[in-house]
Amino acid sequence: MPTRKKFVAGNWKMNTTLAEAKALGAAVAKGVGTDTNVTVAVCPPFPWLVPVGEAIKGSAVALGAQDVHYEKKGAFTGEVSPAMLLEAGCKYAIVGHSERRHILGESETAINHKVHTALEEGLSVILCMGETLAERERNLQERVFQRQVFAACAGLTDEQFQRLVIAYEPVWAIGTGKVATPEQAQEAHAFVRTKLRQLYGDKIADTTPILYGGSVTPETTAGLMSKPDVDGALVGGASLKADSFVAIVKAAGG
Ligand code: PGA
Repeated sequence: MPTRKKFVAGNWKMNTTLAEAKALGAAVAKGVGTDTNVTVAVCPPFPWLVPVGEAIKGSAVALGAQDVHYEKKGAFTGEVSPAMLLEAGCKYAIVGHSERRHILGESETAINHKVHTALEEGLSVILCMGETLAERERNLQERVFQRQVFAACAGLTDEQFQRLVIAYEPVWAIGTGKVATPEQAQEAHAFVRTKLRQLYGDKIADTTPILYGGSVTPETTAGLMSKPDVDGALVGGASLKADSFVAIVKAAGG
């Protein structure tokens, strides 16, 4: 079995003032340092990307955006292109977060288009997927995973898959304090990996990191990371405090 490097990303969502963002970035950079066995990224709000990029410069922490548009440029008021994100210093863009799917009505077609454009332009993508509580109560989660992952990944090349990270984020666990058990996460991740194997082959299945997201805390990290198919965490609330985010990174690094 190949070993996949653990990956921890912080999704700051629509939080922080400029001063808070710079201080948080600097404190995360200091806590993580320059040498870590975990891939680490922070995803501040768009207006704070450049200053946070400055604050983390020289550390092992990379910069990511929380979304990206599916066209390269043009008349798309309010949107941000992959090239703009790259120029702002981003390596990653989150695509298809459940808050965008469910609150803003982002479609699977749009998500597939965003994944393609972002990868074509040179970003790496953190693709989010996961079932709602109603879907889990009706035992539909595997159908949902299959539909969401494969709608989003349709048409990707092998090279593009090397820059794709999947984040399993059950909607019922996001921001609720109700974290999935390590067993629930493992079951979901193993299902997604099996589907990747069936559709795209061993190399893609074995190398694609699958992160867990949904109320991850320093206390729950080690248990989740002990599962063979859980390759890291996408952290919301606990990424807004440098101490807790750095503790999650350390716990993920074992
Ligand atoms: P949470 O958010 O850690 O606050 O549950 C995770 C996410 O939405 O990425």
